[in-house]
Parts: sequence; C-alpha cells; structure tokens
Amino acid sequence: EKGGYDYFMLKEIAEQPRAVADTLLGRIGADGRLSLDEMRISDQALREVDKVVIVACGTANHAGLIAKYAIEHWAGLPCEVELAHEFRYRDPILSRNTLVIAISQSGETMDTLMAVRHAREQHAKVLGVCNVNGSTLPRECDGVLYTHAGPEIAVASTKAFLTQLVAVYLIALYLAQVRGTKWGDEVFAMIQLLAQMPDKVEKVLETMGPVRDLARSLADAPSVLFLGRHVGFPVALEGALKLKELAYMHAEGFAAGELKHGPIALIEEGLPVIVVVPPRARAVLHDKIVSNIQEIRARGARTIVIAEEGDDAVRPYADTLIEVPAVPTLLQPLVTTVPLQVFACELATAKGHDVDQPRNLAKSVTVE
Ligand code: M6R
Repeated sequence: EKGGYDYFMLKEIAEQPRAVADTLLGRIGADGRLSLDEMRISDQALREVDKVVIVACGTANHAGLIAKYAIEHWAGLPCEVELAHEFRYRDPILSRNTLVIAISQSGETMDTLMAVRHAREQHAKVLGVCNVNGSTLPRECDGVLYTHAGPEIAVASTKAFLTQLVAVYLIALYLAQVRGTKWGDEVFAMIQLLAQMPDKVEKVLETMGPVRDLARSLADAPSVLFLGRHVGFPVALEGALKLKELAYMHAEGFAAGELKHGPIALIEEGLPVIVVVPPRARAVLHDKIVSNIQEIRARGARTIVIAEEGDDAVRPYADTLIEVPAVPTLLQPLVTTVPLQVFACELATAKGHDVDQPRNLAKSVTVE
C-alpha cells in the first residue's frame, strides 16, 4: 500500500504532480475559462462579495495565507486569514456579503467546523476547500471545492497542501473571472500556466538528491530558521512546521523584512537558515531578500537558498543553492514548498523518527 516507499509521506510527496493535475482536471474549459460548477455559490452572489475571510488551522492555514495574496491581487477583494480557533472566540465582523473560505484536508477539524458554524450564524456565505468526500465540512458549507489529492495517510500534510494551493488559486482566478478585474489578461494567462504546474512540480522532485544529503548533514543542528517574503513567507512557516512536527526540532519561519526588528539577533556562527527567494521578475522583492541573505551570512549563518534556476544574483551568498523551475511569483509556493517537505522528511528519518506517525500528533484534530 506504500507503493514501494518506506513511508506514506514519501509516497505522498511523490504523488504531488498527479494530485495537482487531478485538482485541475475538468476545471479549465477549452475556451481557457474556469468552470467551478460544483461550487454551488452563484456568480451573482460572488459578484456581491465585498470581503473574503479564510479560516483554517496548521498547514491549511498556510494555504490560506498564500490565498490572501492571490485573492487581493487577482480578484481585488480585501482578504483576511484567521486561525480558525482564534476567529471563533473573537467578534469577527461578517455580513451576507462576506465570503468565508474554510480550508481543511480532513473536513473534520473541530476548530474549523466551529468557525464555519460561527460564520453561518452571521449569514456569511461559506465555501469549503476539502479533500475528503463525505466528511463533515462540505455538509456545513454553502458550497465546496474538492481537492483531489487522494487519501493522505501521513500525519504531515504534503500533497493536500499543494492541492489546497491549486484550489485557492482557482477560487481567486474564478472570482476575478466572474467579477471582472483590471487583470483580465493576466488571469487568462495564469489559468494556462496553472495547467503546467504538474510538470514543474515533477521537475523539482527529480532534483531532490542534494536536498536529502543536506538534510542528513543537519540532523544534529539545534535549530533551523526559515525566511521568506510575500508568498515565500507562508512557505517559510510551512517549512518550519514540517520540521517541528517531523524532526521535533526548533524551527521558526519569519518574514525576511522582520529580521532587523528582532530575529536577526538569533543568527550565530553556523546556524542553518533556509531562504525562499522570489522570482527575479519581482525585482523589488528579489533584491531585498538578496540583501537579507548577505546580512545573515555576514553574521555567520549557513545560508541554504531556494531560488529559481539561473538566479545568479543569489549564488555568491548561498552556501547551498536549491534551484526550482521559474514560475510567476504567486504560483511559486507550488515549487518552493516541495524541497522543504523533502528536507524535513529526510532529516526526521535520519534521526530515526517515524515520519508517518510523529509523536503527540493525530491526523485529524476532532476536538477543540
Ligand atoms: O484536516 P485539516 O486540514 O483541517 O488539518 C489541519 C491541521 O491539523 C493540519 O494541517 C496539521 O497542521 C498537519 N499535521 C500539518 O502537517
């Protein structure tokens, strides 16, 4: 059942190109437009939406954080992202024109379900993004967009995360399509590019040998930091979460711009810092992170840099360079997350941990 792999997690990482392709399947029409018929929230209702609020926990929350950038940019809608358990116990301001998106692989996370109930009591429209057919979440939502990752057995979420990203990109682009935005041409182009993502993810998987070597060499590191900007920031959070839950190591993700506001004090000789670099096309973001890499390296950090192929500007400052295919900034998490999954999985395995069943964790958290 593990398909020849030692762990489900390895199998699930390897399945990601197929999972991404399946989540796109049937959703891009021959005319290049999206159709999300199963969503069951009418286009008219979507045109009336004036705010999006995303609720989710853990890895699904990281997908939500990335969705915010996509929804604000392509759909031009204000978007907030909440940890479901925090949202539930505040007094969030919602209305009939708020679209709440609840993201949950299992569809059984109690915190997320409670947030959905709270949102519905306030008459918000609720759209679920879910991987498990017949689970509780879809029944409690107005509409649902299924991810087609297939069963995810390992406790650490991998293929579910990538398909959640695809789902939220589809939602952002669909909102843009039905509402019409100034980014019409870009939206059309992005839909085409999404179709190429399974191949790009496959390319990343083909080059993971050096990442595994690196992970084994860091098995005794006391701590690993992760830095990113823009959508690379949630990717950094996700990389740190994977390492915590699998390797039981101290790991933290930061927004690179936040360094000088505190975290740079943590940098000391030999500390591994993994940096997710935005595409060169976003020169402002890219150049800033290159200076961040220089700053931490000057203070002794061992820099592990994930950047698009051919990015020569980062090369001189990278102790280890991990290259990923060039894709537009907003889609980059689909390729930059994969090395972080492989890294955490390999490092944890090197420490002798069972990556499918990390200590103290359950696959779905059905209590509050
Ligand atoms: O089933 P859900 O997507 O609602 O689960 C949410 C989190 O519990 C889950 O993503 C958790 O953080 C994973 N163990 C992360 O790998």
